Amino acid sequence: MQAAFVIEEAIESDLIDILELLESMNLDMDQVHAQQFYLATLNDEILGLGRILEHDGCAELCSLGVVESHRRQGIGSKLVNALASKTPTKPLYVVTEIPDYFLRLGFAPSEVYPIEIADKLQRCIDLYDCQSPVVLALV
Ligand SMILES: CC(C)(COP(=O)(O)OP(=O)(O)OC[C@H]1O[C@@H](n2cnc3c(N)ncnc32)[C@H](O)[C@@H]1OP(=O)(O)O)[C@@H](O)C(=O)NCCC(=O)NCCS
Repeated sequence: MQAAFVIEEAIESDLIDILELLESMNLDMDQVHAQQFYLATLNDEILGLGRILEHDGCAELCSLGVVESHRRQGIGSKLVNALASKTPTKPLYVVTEIPDYFLRLGFAPSEVYPIEIADKLQRCIDLYDCQSPVVLALV
């Protein structure tokens, strides 16, 4: 039987581990603050993470990653659900190269989006070597 992981909000002292994980998985490290993150942990080890970046008129789910050895155990989905419930009043977008993953979690393609999301799309291409990122919104 697999041990149960816990989803919890990050605290300031998690920041160094968060930055290490983001770097190792080549995830968005722009404007990082510990308070933006939810972590999936098991016995104090971080197995996965993701955050909400707040913009003026919308929110963005980003920096989602699960360590390779613990993928396909539902950690990513639980993180997405926790993050999605963090900003219920704002439209929530994700810019991603793996739309199929997010389609199963309640997101849908979005043709129209705020300037901050358009900027992110461009940064994905320029800074993170994304080949074909797309924008999805939580519906
Ligand atoms: C994407 C990611 C966060 C998923 O985490 P996870 O904990 O393995 O996800 P879950 O266990 O909740 O879901 C697993 C399901 O998602 C599917 N899935 C995983 N990666 C996928 C991908 N790249 N595209 C489409 N579906 C994917 C799996 O097929 C699996 O479905 P199955 O169990 O029916 O086969 C993880 O693979 C990861 O960290 N990838 C590298 C970083 C990344 O791409 N982050 C997204 C940035 S927007």
